[in-house]
Amino acid sequence: MSASRQQAPKGTFDVLPGSERQRELVFTHGAELLEAAGYGRIETPTFEDTTLFERGVGESTDIVRKEMFTFTDQGGRSLTLRPEGTAPICRAYVEHGMHKLPQPVKLWYQGPFFRYERPQEGRFRQFNQIGAEALGTDSPVADAELIVLLDELLRGLGIEDAELRLSSLGTPESRAAYREELRAYLREHEGELSDDVRSRIDSNPLRAFDADHEGTRAVMAAAPTMLDSLDEPDAEHLAAVRRMLDAAGVPYRLDGTLVRGLDYYTRTVFEFTCERLGAQSGIGGGGRYDGLVEQLGGPATPGVGWAAGIERILLAMREAPPERVPDAFVVAADGDLERAFGVALGLRRARLATRTDLAGRAFKGQMKQADRSGARFAVILEEGAVQLRDMESGEQRSIAEDEVAAEITAALAPQQAPAR
Ligand code: HAM
Repeated sequence: MSASRQQAPKGTFDVLPGSERQRELVFTHGAELLEAAGYGRIETPTFEDTTLFERGVGESTDIVRKEMFTFTDQGGRSLTLRPEGTAPICRAYVEHGMHKLPQPVKLWYQGPFFRYERPQEGRFRQFNQIGAEALGTDSPVADAELIVLLDELLRGLGIEDAELRLSSLGTPESRAAYREELRAYLREHEGELSDDVRSRIDSNPLRAFDADHEGTRAVMAAAPTMLDSLDEPDAEHLAAVRRMLDAAGVPYRLDGTLVRGLDYYTRTVFEFTCERLGAQSGIGGGGRYDGLVEQLGGPATPGVGWAAGIERILLAMREAPPERVPDAFVVAADGDLERAFGVALGLRRARLATRTDLAGRAFKGQMKQADRSGARFAVILEEGAVQLRDMESGEQRSIAEDEVAAEITAALAPQQAPAR
């Protein structure tokens, strides 16, 4: 009996060559953009103490209630595969005394995250995020800077049709009063709400804005929003963010029903959505979390940031980047594959993208491969001679074997203007 075939776990995927290239483009574009704006790369572990997320993300959120991959290690510790990056970064900020550095501390990250969600198009149990955080400033300039960076990240990747929604959740104090008002409103309409929303009227009434349930949505369309309850400093903070987005030419829609699935937010919240993606339209989002660092045992430190889902960005990108075209293809016309290996190695060490045939094809087959690869030059190894063929013009000439790299490099170099 043959053994049953192994498969990747539900909600996970393999990244194969080809799609890897497009992914790499997102990372390099993101890295360039964020580094240029003064964000330094940070990496935190893929698992943390479970309490970090319970305290940071919030006990009443979907993430903590039902989506965490939690396990006990051999030492009896409860650990959790990170469902998000902000709480770990705040933990690292405190642990490494970054509050003693000149503020703000600006960080960016990229890597895998884990949520036990029902898999569907654009939603996975292991997915990747790229994110950025600015800790140690409550200036609305930081909010605007970060929102503009995410807008630029998406546009730079050809995603022009993402919609930006913006709101403010105020401070915990102003939100407490608003929550009471919302609770009273929800209780008035209890009969029309989903069971889930009804069970959370006390613990997390704002999540009612996020419900898919039709009756709940109808109730929420007329619900009071936090935007109407902002106190003066919060309203001015939001107005300043809006002025800077206007000045930057970044369009947005003010949306008081925007709530995010994490408890740590204060003041600014935002989300970029792309309708083309269907149900999982959230490409990236974030906001301000002025109480989180303190909640995790650190000094009172404001912060703001965002994270975007790499897989959703890839879905929203319309065109795959072109495959890297090789500079050279080494053809072993003499059948000597070891000689071809040596020549190809020399070219690669000279930083030329080089391919060879590894399948032992006949001369004609190798030339066909060279042609198909789109290589600019074929280096044809004959007995006692080397031919360099320009695949664009068809020109071919004999050259010395030890000059192949220099010849190709010179031919590829942009024409230098003669020195004056
Ligand atoms: P989030 O909205 O939970 O925010 O996730 C950010 C992005 O990650 C989403 O917009 C989405 O693109 C992607 N994402 C989330 N869950 C999945 C999934 N199951 N499959 C595929 N993609 C997914 C945060 O994580 C916050 N830490 C953002 C933040 C940073 N706020 C302040 N700073």
